Amino acid sequence: PDDDLAATPPMGWNSWNTFGCDINEQLIRETADALVSSGMRDAGYRYVNIDDCWAEPERDASGRLQPHHERFPGGIAAIADYVHERGMKLGIYTSAGTRTCADTMPGALGHEETDATTFAEWGVDYLKYDNCNNQGVPATERYTTMGEALRATGRPIVYSVCEWGENAPWEWAPGVGAHLWRTTDDIRPVWETGNTNDFPMGVVDIIDFNRDLARYAGPGDWNDPDMLEVGVHDVDGYPGLTDDEARAHFGMWAMMASPLIAGNDVRSMPDEVRDILTNPEVIAIDQDSLGAQGTPIRDDGDQEIWLKPLANGDKALALFNRSNTPATITTTTSEIGAPGPATLRNLWTRTETTTTADITADVPAHAAVLLRATPH
Ligand code: GLA
Repeated sequence: PDDDLAATPPMGWNSWNTFGCDINEQLIRETADALVSSGMRDAGYRYVNIDDCWAEPERDASGRLQPHHERFPGGIAAIADYVHERGMKLGIYTSAGTRTCADTMPGALGHEETDATTFAEWGVDYLKYDNCNNQGVPATERYTTMGEALRATGRPIVYSVCEWGENAPWEWAPGVGAHLWRTTDDIRPVWETGNTNDFPMGVVDIIDFNRDLARYAGPGDWNDPDMLEVGVHDVDGYPGLTDDEARAHFGMWAMMASPLIAGNDVRSMPDEVRDILTNPEVIAIDQDSLGAQGTPIRDDGDQEIWLKPLANGDKALALFNRSNTPATITTTTSEIGAPGPATLRNLWTRTETTTTADITADVPAHAAVLLRATPH
């Protein structure tokens, strides 16, 4: 849309991937504090997003949503203040249906104006708008109504359409005022499930779906391949990603100019997890002002070469090894469209080499080497 709310992909945190419905105001406050003390806020993570299950099961007498009286006794406005005082923004969630996906609270279908107004009054800065219990009302109609209601509040609110790619939202979501739209079903902390676009999806499954949508992404309008599973463990029987897998997940999301919404418990994250999430050079690839979504320029089955052009003429590259065994992956400066010598900076080891033409790396199983190539 025609505003500057999401000139680069939104970055933040969301409660769902780790906590599900087990959320309360103390968790949100502690998370906000941890985003500051860990350096994540300063690395760019701006939105503190409360997902499903924050409200009472029914509306109040005047038809407004009520924060859950035991888990959010101080209300949402107080949390918004808390988050704003710390230099961040607050996100909230509901569904374009009669109930939300976890079915614990009312959805906004038929109540769009009331709910958008309530959110704006509370100081909410971001809405994730889900797709459950939609009663068969066409998606474009449901998401248009909320988009208009949000704009009518006059408050700048990032609009995140969570429609799971069911009705090709990449074609209409920018037109209804959305800044990002989910392209797939839900992610879980697993490398690959083999599902094309059904729950549960792993990192590789989502990449395979999201990669074909690159042309729809650009400043203000982003494909959303779902939230990060970096540092998320023990969910639905999945132990979580290895460090190599987590770096590949984060790196490939950056290559795809994806929203970076952390899903881990940032209050207790190990240093390795924090280092992945705050790597400034990988974040710079994601947040590059050109806003191009990277694409594979060579697909050898288990190995792929990905390219993302950057605003200053550099090229971000991912040498992506999907397989269960290590591989040496090779390309050339000609293949990446910049023939001749170049400086290659490895964004995880933060070391530089120069090349006259060949670009090569040993890539562990389930891993991606990320390079920034600067042509001479
Ligand atoms: C859907 C969404 C998830 C999450 C849950 C909450 O499954 O796709 O991201 O918001 O609902 O119930």
